[in-house]
Amino acid sequence: MNRKSAIGIFDSGLGGLTVMSAVTKLLPKENIIYFGDTAHVPYGSKSNKVVTGFALAISKFLVKHDVKLIIVACNTASAFSLADLKKKIKVPVIGVITAGSAMAVKNTKNKRVAVIGTEGTIKSGAYLKEIKKQNKSVKVFSQACPLFVPLVEEGWFDAKITKDIIKEYLTEILKKKTDTIILGCTHYPLLKKSIQKVIGGNVEIIDSAIAIANEVKNLLHDKNIENDAKQGRHVFYVSDCPEKFEKLGSIFFGKKIKNVKKVELEK
Ligand code: DGL
Repeated sequence: MNRKSAIGIFDSGLGGLTVMSAVTKLLPKENIIYFGDTAHVPYGSKSNKVVTGFALAISKFLVKHDVKLIIVACNTASAFSLADLKKKIKVPVIGVITAGSAMAVKNTKNKRVAVIGTEGTIKSGAYLKEIKKQNKSVKVFSQACPLFVPLVEEGWFDAKITKDIIKEYLTEILKKKTDTIILGCTHYPLLKKSIQKVIGGNVEIIDSAIAIANEVKNLLHDKNIENDAKQGRHVFYVSDCPEKFEKLGSIFFGKKIKNVKKVELEK
């Protein structure tokens, strides 16, 4: 492993490409290996044990590809599996929850923060614990929004039905008068405009993808392992349906994706 080694990023499927997009914008010189676990998506409705099994297998695959760092782009896997991965994987592993929480804690003036995510992420209480760890006086309100992921996968970012569903999910949260809301799921940045319309301009939206990109930049700098290439290379692996990933992935990544390879993971 050296400075030219790639950064490994993984997610349950396509969603983590929003994280990869933020990372490549900030760190264009870095080589990146992305793994989308398309055979097992969604993680958001699965148990801790099952998701952690997938997360471990993917991390071992990435380590075999000599990555210098692993980003758990999936909020659900970060919530369930990060502690286990940190213990069992020999390269630094970071998840989206710490960075997203730090950004929210820094942003909130009235010390009231909302978190939205998958059922798994919200039930785990991972954001609540992390925010309280960083600042005990911040009040946290959370809401699972399980229909958001399928809406995004359909490409219905600002359809009427999407806005109605956003309103329905966020009614209770809006009553709490939070000034900050964390998008605690890889897919939600694609609903950012519609969410902002529903919650109004006075509530700041925290995108965990941008938060983690900054954390990665600092970590590579501190460890003196930044790549010095002109332009980083990007490689994509999935566990199923590479063609679908290429087609939809371009929307999440904001750029064309080609040569996606399908691999089978060792258990
Ligand atoms: N990647 C997941 C997350 O950020 C959303 C999709 C899923 O449920 O697998 O929580």
